[in-house]
Amino acid sequence: MNSAVQTEIFISRSPEETLEFAKQFSQSLKAGDIVALIGNLGSGKTIFVKGICNGLNAGQNPLSPTFSIINEYIGKYTIYHIDFYRIKDKEELYDIGYEDYFNDESICLIEWADMFIEILPEDHIEVKIEFGSDDLERVITIQRKK
Ligand SMILES: Nc1ncnc2c1ncn2[C@@H]1O[C@H](COP(=O)(O)OP(=O)(O)OP(=O)(O)O)[C@@H](O)[C@H]1O
Ligand SMILES: [Mg+2]
Repeated sequence: MNSAVQTEIFISRSPEETLEFAKQFSQSLKAGDIVALIGNLGSGKTIFVKGICNGLNAGQNPLSPTFSIINEYIGKYTIYHIDFYRIKDKEELYDIGYEDYFNDESICLIEWADMFIEILPEDHIEVKIEFGSDDLERVITIQRKK
């Protein structure tokens, strides 16, 4: 069966607008959701994560996971924040037990998800951030299966 895809596009004109949009977006999330953040260096993936966390009362200032690979924030839900950019190969993902983070109780936010997109469940939510026509513009496309 072919499931329909629902697409939403938002044009952001500042980091603050991205933060606010992500905060609103967070209200649509539910336990078990996996959000794949896709976009080049400095596109705004971490700012988007921050907006989600702020919207779900889970930490004010999340930073990209550095030493730990996975950050955990507790708010309305448990949120896992993973950055695939720091992961060398799929082996390393298996070693950290990534499947444990895809569960029905928590929300998982993955920066650079396209690096290992094949390991994500089919029904993940995609957030793609592209550069717009000037330094401050970003085109944010959200796709979810209905
Ligand atoms: N409309 C906008 N939305 C989001 N960020 C913006 C916008 N305009 C400019 N910026 C700037 O772009 C940068 C985005 O940084 P951020 O760390 O969120 O990117 P990232 O996609 O997580 O990068 P990385 O791939 O290194 O993890 C910030 O410096 C921010 O101020
Ligand atoms: Mg980042």
